[in-house]
Amino acid sequence: MKTIFLIGFMGSGKSTIGKVLSETYDLSFVDIDDFIEQKYEQKITDIFKMYGEEVFRNYEHEALQEVTTYNVVATGGGVVERENNINVMKNAGTIVYLQASFAEIDERLKHNTTRPLWQNSDFDTKVSLYKRRNRLYTQCADYKIQTDHKTIENIVSDIGDIFSLTRT
Ligand code: S3P
Repeated sequence: MKTIFLIGFMGSGKSTIGKVLSETYDLSFVDIDDFIEQKYEQKITDIFKMYGEEVFRNYEHEALQEVTTYNVVATGGGVVERENNINVMKNAGTIVYLQASFAEIDERLKHNTTRPLWQNSDFDTKVSLYKRRNRLYTQCADYKIQTDHKTIENIVSDIGDIFSLTRT
């Protein structure tokens, strides 16, 4: 099968949904942030701190090209920042946007310390990042799933229906 790429803002649930989706339908799964941390033996926060966002984006682009053999890929929220990432995903599979509202994201990330782009931004910067990314996700996605007030199980079932997947 072609790869299912889960995209969406930080905190939208891509990693959790990807994991449960893969377990429910017996699919191979990788989370790009975990893949990068293992490959470079460094935490994402440390990569940002030591080398900056640009270097992280280079790592992310390389990683994306290396994971297209998996059935399900949970991407990082900034994967849409580079157009060539969108091309990689379009060529290798189908893009599913997990859309959570700004309010939901803001609530979920309130106490989070592992997202440098979120924790180092003021409210207005967060709002404009959310709005800009929301446009980018919507433009490139083949499918969009609203996740507010839905259970993980519901979201996983929605994705299973889209791809006519069979439960194990
Ligand atoms: C980022 C999102 C993070 C991680 C990095 C940058 C972003 O992944 O890749 O901190 O630019 O939105 P999650 O979406 O899994 O939080």
